[in-house]
Amino acid sequence: MRKNIVAGNWKMNLSREEGITLVEEVLAKLPTDNNTHVIFSPSFMYLHKVAKMCANTPQVVAAAQDCSANDKGAFTGEVSASMLASCGARYVVLGHSERRVNFTESNESLKMKVRQAFMNDLKVIFCCGESLAQRESAAHFEWIKSQLSESLFHLSAEEFKNIVIAYEPIWAIGTGVTASTDQAQEVHTFIRNLLVEKYGNEVAESTSILYGGSCKPINAKELFASKDIDGGLIGGASLKSDDFVAITQAF
Ligand code: PGA
Repeated sequence: MRKNIVAGNWKMNLSREEGITLVEEVLAKLPTDNNTHVIFSPSFMYLHKVAKMCANTPQVVAAAQDCSANDKGAFTGEVSASMLASCGARYVVLGHSERRVNFTESNESLKMKVRQAFMNDLKVIFCCGESLAQRESAAHFEWIKSQLSESLFHLSAEEFKNIVIAYEPIWAIGTGVTASTDQAQEVHTFIRNLLVEKYGNEVAESTSILYGGSCKPINAKELFASKDIDGGLIGGASLKSDDFVAITQAF
């Protein structure tokens, strides 16, 4: 069976102290019988600290928000996947729309980043999703298909087991507008069907597909009750321990 996952994407928020306090609070508030796989995705700066704090809680791990497409060398300011692994990261988030839009990440460069992640035993949370204009012109299915096929579909079925997909409609991110459960479920089913076509039932059924975009305690329960929504990638609501813990318990 696939995992239920709730991943907090802190983006460029929180000081080191605030981040440590948040992790302490979440770890203290998570019920002892928590079955959800919980991921913190802090700034690179605190990744090592957060990973250490989670080390004794098997269901809770740390992720980076990006990695370099290159393995090492003269790339000033970049952070490699091997550096992330050496700091205790278990996952890396790749292809977030904020990176695609603001830092011109392409499907091709993301394919290289996925390779770097896998060479360093990091699992990938791969983000996809359409703009409002694409949804309004009914171009979203083709768009999502191209994002997945151009960055991921060269992978073998065995490799694909290390991929988590996050569907994040850009019009819902940080806007307070959540995709309706039907809208999200429709895209999640579409994605799972693509995986069936490409990799067969076993891989498709074992791949976790997360929803992201203004997911909060009040809508998480309904979203997560859908058969193809296996959790969330949470921005704003991951910065408050009560909200984030409530979302992890929304299954
Ligand atoms: P949001 O962000 O929950 O603040 O909408 C989600 C994301 O960008 O991953």
